[in-house]
Amino acid sequence: MALLEIKKYPEKILKEKAAYVESIDSDIQRLIDDMVETMYAARGVGLAANQVGVLKRLCVIDTSIREEERPLIVLINPVIIEKEGIEEAKEGCLSVPGYILTLKRSAKVYVKGLNREGKPIEIETRGLLSRVLQHEIDHLDGLLIIDRINPIKREFFKKRYKKSLKTATSSK
Ligand code: NI
Repeated sequence: MALLEIKKYPEKILKEKAAYVESIDSDIQRLIDDMVETMYAARGVGLAANQVGVLKRLCVIDTSIREEERPLIVLINPVIIEKEGIEEAKEGCLSVPGYILTLKRSAKVYVKGLNREGKPIEIETRGLLSRVLQHEIDHLDGLLIIDRINPIKREFFKKRYKKSLKTATSSK
């Protein structure tokens, strides 16, 4: 297993749409193991393959550091089948470090996909897990949390973020 480098905004790969996983082979299994290790090391609750530079529809999720014990979820080719309600909550992203944004998302989702053995799985959930699922599936479609806020706030964010990148570079 190996720790992978997490891509940060504004790296282009984060804006790209990931492709469906055709076969769950040993390369995919290794990628899953590395993504799980990378997510835990970064203390994240989810990680999508784009974030480690791979354009495959695959994500790993474990919300148990933030709420009651839940199992690790490995989700391949996830699709949101149904959404219900609207909920606003604070959200961060390992690819947009240092920022917590308040976002509206569907309150409840029903998601289908495959597990790492290639077996179909279904998840119907609300609350944090519902939000994380939508966040990770957004990544696979090339969307970040900043793409989910209104355009005025987005421009403000971009300016501030670029400034903070410059400051970080010049202080090295
Ligand atoms: Ni994220």
